[in-house]
Amino acid sequence: MNSTLPVTIRGTGVYAPPEILDNAFFSSYLDTSDTWIVERTGIRQRHRCGEGESTATLAAAAARRALQNAGLTVEDVDLVIVCTATPDVVIPSTSCMLQGELGIRNVPAFDVLAACSGFVYGLVVATSMLQTGAYRNVLMVGAETLTRFTDYQDRSTCILFGDAAAAVVLSPSDDPQRGILYWNLGADGCQAKQIWVPAGGSRLPASTTTVAERLHTMRMRGREVYKFAVVKMQDEIDNALQSCDMTADELKLIIPHQSNLRIIESARSRLGLPADKVAVNIDRYGNTSAASIGISFDEARRSGAIRPGDRILLVAFGAGLTWATALLQL
Ligand code: UT7
Repeated sequence: MNSTLPVTIRGTGVYAPPEILDNAFFSSYLDTSDTWIVERTGIRQRHRCGEGESTATLAAAAARRALQNAGLTVEDVDLVIVCTATPDVVIPSTSCMLQGELGIRNVPAFDVLAACSGFVYGLVVATSMLQTGAYRNVLMVGAETLTRFTDYQDRSTCILFGDAAAAVVLSPSDDPQRGILYWNLGADGCQAKQIWVPAGGSRLPASTTTVAERLHTMRMRGREVYKFAVVKMQDEIDNALQSCDMTADELKLIIPHQSNLRIIESARSRLGLPADKVAVNIDRYGNTSAASIGISFDEARRSGAIRPGDRILLVAFGAGLTWATALLQL
């Protein structure tokens, strides 16, 4: 799909909790090793939230930084969107909890649950809401506390996930060239149980049994998701480039979801791109789901690797199974 409304990302901000879990933490009690984790995933460390922290508090810290970066205050925000698969509570939405943290009142707030595709889903939803003409400054945050939903006895998942939040402030732009030039969102709910948390919802409410069986933590068929991700990521990139009549060389940067360095590398080598054209932060953050693309975006923007006028491609996949792609002109 093509979107015509000129939109600009006015500010970005990231927050990751200070506690760091390195690979030695896992090899101290599980049958795993730093070598296995680095070779199979590319992850060297991840952040974990501590007491008193939650998805909304991480989101609030990132949001404050994004608003400051945009030169705006909470009074300027007229819509709040949080993209998360790890909400503070079942009721109400994490976006309302975020409003409470920031002291924002009387503007709409809602969550988007598209798991690791959340940040790109959120950008498309925020742009569409701006396109109605009803809003001026949308605060959109991808925030996750996956370590709170991780089974620390399952070596195939616990090594992967980390906590963080990435916020952006989006506003209409006077420059007709700016905005989302192309986007595509998708989902295949027939694969809903490839990555899921079985208990804690209406399907299987919390009980002593669900707690004993650790059913409130994530289950993932890693190998199946891996195969899906490699193919989907390449197809999505091809479709975006074809639709915009562009080659990969014309992009300043591709920002893929960070779930496994081997998935990212397979896309990069197939496109024949040099390492600096594809963003990587999985070594430092692990998989932060809806925050991962936002973290890379913020890093690239602050380092000057991407600037106004550049074209970049965001591509993600995750639980659902979902996928999402957006080609932006900054
Ligand atoms: O962002 C959400 C989407 N999620 C993803 O994109 C995750 C996609 N999947 C993956 O990244 C990979 O499938 C994993 C990193 C999860 C697993 O890597 P893999 O190369 O696919 O390993 P595997 O599941 O095929 O397992 C190979 C072996 C198994 O042992 P056996 O059965 O061959 O003896 C596993 O038990 O590796 C073993 N294994 C481990 N060994 C040491 C699994 N986890 C570990 C571990 N340390 N942490």
